[in-house]
Order: sequence, then C-alpha cells, then structure tokens
Amino acid sequence: MTIVAPSVLSLDYSKMESQIADLNASQAKWLHFDVMDGHFVKNLTFGPDILKGYRKACNLLMDVHVMITDPGAFMDRFYEAGADNYTFHYEALVQQGTQAEIEQVKALAKKAHDMHKMVGLSIKPGTPIEVLKPLVNDFDVFLIMSVEPGFGGQAFIEASLERIRTLKEWIKDAGSQALIEVDGGINETTGRLCKEAGVDVLVAGSYIFKQDIGKAVDTLV
Ligand code: DX5
Ligand code: ZN
Repeated sequence: MTIVAPSVLSLDYSKMESQIADLNASQAKWLHFDVMDGHFVKNLTFGPDILKGYRKACNLLMDVHVMITDPGAFMDRFYEAGADNYTFHYEALVQQGTQAEIEQVKALAKKAHDMHKMVGLSIKPGTPIEVLKPLVNDFDVFLIMSVEPGFGGQAFIEASLERIRTLKEWIKDAGSQALIEVDGGINETTGRLCKEAGVDVLVAGSYIFKQDIGKAVDTLV
C-alpha cells in the first residue's frame, strides 16, 4: 500500500480542527509539513511551533519538508518540535557541486541518524537525478519534486516519472531501504502513474483538501 502524505499547505485554516479530525480518521499515514523561508523559495509558511501543535493534535508521522536556505541551522529545532522525518534540499547546500559541499549533505544525514531520526533529501525538477546516485545509502527518503517548490496547485511535470524509475533502480541495485516520495501536482491519475514508476509516498495538497479528505486519500492509497 502506498503511503499518503497530505500537505497541510492546502489545509483550510478556518476549519483546522475538523480537517485534522478528518486526517486522523483517514487512511493517510504521514502528514506533510512544508517549511518555506521566503528566500530558498518565494513564499513563507510555518516554523517549529506550529509543528508542535500538529504533533499534539494529529497521530500521523510528521514529515517535514524544508525549503530553506540553511537546513542545518533548523534541523534540531524541528526534531525537538516533533518531526519524525526531516527532508531538506540538495540545492540548499550544493551550488558548485564540490566534494566539500556534498560532504555537508552527508554530514547532515549522519547527524540525523546519530539522533536516531529519519532524514530525507529533495531535489527540484531541474536538478539532474544523477546527483542522488552516490547518496542512495545515506538517506531514508528521497523526495522528488514534480513541480517547482514554493506553491501548491501546480501541474505535475511528466518527466518526473522517468526520474523516479531511474532512482528506483539505483536504490534496488544498492540494496538500500530508502523510500521514494513525490511532491507536486498529485491527483488520482498522476498518483497512479507515480506508483507504477515505483513511488512509495505520495504527497498531495490541493487535491486532498479541495474535496472530502477521507475519500480523496482513499483514491491515492
Ligand atoms: C510545494 C510543496 C508541496 C505542495 C504540493 O512546494 O512542497 O508539498 O503542498 O501541493 P499540490 O499537491 O497542490 O501540488
Ligand atoms: Zn512539500
């Protein structure tokens, strides 16, 4: 069964209590929490204190996706606030592609593992999938962005499917247990295509919160 991770970026904040109750009663296993700093992406969202509230109100695994320039500076804070998984962006740490930058990516994963936490790495649609190949044994989750990060409600980029298939092969060949998660433009149709390509975790925001939450989740599992 596919793990469904509703993205609370699209939650209706005037109906928070009832929507969280719907999430708790649904087949969703993870809650996807998008953190944006107005710098790595041109949008602002939530910080660790809001996550604490979700942690208390919600029984799902807290899947934090940070679209921030300095993921190392906030990792501890999000774990302390209740993050089960902390996924940061490759592009936040690697600009020139130097070995020193890649070592920083690995060091952050190791720091999370030393704390016995799950950690994920995300790439934007324009970043070559090849950058993940040497890292398949360093992370628990690889989050493939299937839209440009920053906003919900965008159309799924079809080329993501080939990237997912390629990554799935590398993970298998390396004997890694890493999960592949996809984020952006997921609905019943694109979700099915992603599952066929090998995705383990489907993030969906606008598709889930624009209709009956429980029924929408049922179409994705
Ligand atoms: C976008 C976020 C996504 C967003 C997806 O930067 O990372 O998690 O909520 O929204 P939809 O499902 O509406 O494309
Ligand atoms: Zn996200």
